[in-house]
Amino acid sequence: MFFELIRNRRSSRSFEDKKIDSEIIDLIKEAALRAPSSRSLNPWEFIFSTDQTIIEKLSRAKTHGSSFLKSAALAVTIAADPKKCDVWIEDSAIASIYIQLACEALGLKSCWCQIRKREHDNSLSAEDYVKQVLGIPENLRVLSIIGTGFPAGPVKGHDISYVQNQLDKIHTDKF
Ligand SMILES: Cc1cc2nc3c(=O)[nH]c(=O)nc-3n(C[C@H](O)[C@H](O)[C@H](O)COP(=O)(O)O)c2cc1C
Repeated sequence: MFFELIRNRRSSRSFEDKKIDSEIIDLIKEAALRAPSSRSLNPWEFIFSTDQTIIEKLSRAKTHGSSFLKSAALAVTIAADPKKCDVWIEDSAIASIYIQLACEALGLKSCWCQIRKREHDNSLSAEDYVKQVLGIPENLRVLSIIGTGFPAGPVKGHDISYVQNQLDKIHTDKF
């Protein structure tokens, strides 16, 4: 099952105009909260947005690479408290991918929108913009937003050649 899931997974940036049932959203919440974190400190906070007005504002987080959120039925923003854990970035990235894999398992497609280290415009970081839109407390950092929904068209996983062409990245015993 796991291999079927990762073989089919691709980022999707175009979604059907169709709501996601609350039972499905509950399963995505469960996946997020089951993500492993360093020392089990669970420094993250997840903001689940289905309100189209909010999602549209999130789609304007960056000049490039966030507009796809506009058609998403659900946007999950992953934030964390760096004071709770020094490796909050790793913890938040793992939770983000857990959410993406849960979406895939539930028949949805998704895409990661990078927020940390990105700009909204010349005077505002994407992080501060997202924090303003969502009312996230000042002490938290924002890593990513996962946009998800039912794909607007067929999405095929990477061909096996995608893996074969990268085999030189795998090293055995020593580099
Ligand atoms: C850390 C990270 C940041 C990403 N940021 C963005 C982003 O800001 N906008 C976007 O459209 N896609 C983003 N992506 C999606 C990648 O572009 C995508 O995963 C990559 O092109 C490989 O395609 P695939 O996911 O279909 O295999 C991001 C992915 C990762 C892992």
